[in-house]
Amino acid sequence: AFVVGENCIKCKYTDCVEVCPVDCFYEGPNFLVIHPDECIDCALCEPECPANAIFAEDEIPEDQEHFKELNAELAEVWDNITEKKDALSDADDWNGVEGKLSYLER
Ligand code: SF4
Ligand code: F3S
Repeated sequence: AFVVGENCIKCKYTDCVEVCPVDCFYEGPNFLVIHPDECIDCALCEPECPANAIFAEDEIPEDQEHFKELNAELAEVWDNITEKKDALSDADDWNGVEGKLSYLER
């Protein structure tokens, strides 16, 4: 499955959800996740993310391995999102900032 990584946090551009053929994105307050059991590995979402936050699970950077578990866990509790909405208001300021996991809201 594909995995949403750290740089989505506090950006949440949501371009990714528009292209997913199986609607497997789930939305929290400032982050999105992919349901690993629903993703069909089509790879369409990866190039759509302005924050380059989406990775194939075997290509996720080593220091973001824990995002696999996080996507699986949060996809079970968050609501499905299938339509693009406005990014978070200061998304461009947060794009690329390191250490955003500490800002994750659940
Ligand atoms: Fe959806 Fe395809 Fe991205 Fe998986 S890889 S989340 S199926 S768009
Ligand atoms: Fe997040 Fe990128 Fe989608 S910032 S909401 S994974 S387009």
